[in-house]
Amino acid sequence: MKKNKILVVGNWKMNPENVSSALTIFKDIKKETKALKNTQVVICPPYVYLSDLEKVNSGLASSAVILGAQDMFWEKSGSYTGEISGGMLSGEGYVILGHSERRELGETDEVVAKKVSSASKVGLKTILCIGEKERDLHGDYLHFLRGQIINSLGKLPKRFLTKIIIAYEPLWAIGKGEEEAMKPGDIYETSIFIKKVLTEIYDQKVAITVPIIYGGSVNHNNAREMIISGQIQGLLVGRESLNARKFGELLKNVD
Ligand code: 13P
Repeated sequence: MKKNKILVVGNWKMNPENVSSALTIFKDIKKETKALKNTQVVICPPYVYLSDLEKVNSGLASSAVILGAQDMFWEKSGSYTGEISGGMLSGEGYVILGHSERRELGETDEVVAKKVSSASKVGLKTILCIGEKERDLHGDYLHFLRGQIINSLGKLPKRFLTKIIIAYEPLWAIGKGEEEAMKPGDIYETSIFIKKVLTEIYDQKVAITVPIIYGGSVNHNNAREMIISGQIQGLLVGRESLNARKFGELLKNVD
């Protein structure tokens, strides 16, 4: 049986500040990915850099990198100033939806669900972000996560689950130091919980096929252990994906 590759997604957020820096980082990352055997790398830069990076990507052969977007709107076209549709992105393979930084700006589960449905219909793979703000001793965060998964998927038909990746990013672990990242044992526990919720909504057969990835202060030191002991299928990386040398180190360690 063919083993699935580990998925490592770099979320550049609103960085770097100009296209020439984006090109430099991207070219350097491409060099770092040449020898990878077991890892699929996805880079999600700001929209406006996508076509320039795509040119570099197709120009340099033996590419292990796929480009993705950080968000999209659910309608195909129309009077939606500032928005971008899934169809406009469909050259790109992946789209991050429901990132906590967008949810902080007011994006609700219902909005995320419309986007997930629209992305799935145009054939994009969705990296659906979920995560609690804080952990409590009574397990309320589990109820919160459960609600977020159910409501963000909305009524997404089962056949589209092949296009869904769940990115678990606890807000308290994002943008922190290495020691504040989640412990692999806790990642493992949460990933089992996510599969349990997916089983509840769909069924076990489909739930076990949905990749679960973790994000929040992942770096070249902790990445490998998170994959092995956390038993997850990949990582969603913020800051470290903007440093080609360190990101390259992370990729080698994971691979
Ligand atoms: P950091 O890796 O910088 O903590 O960011 C995580 C994140 O939000 C990725 O989407």
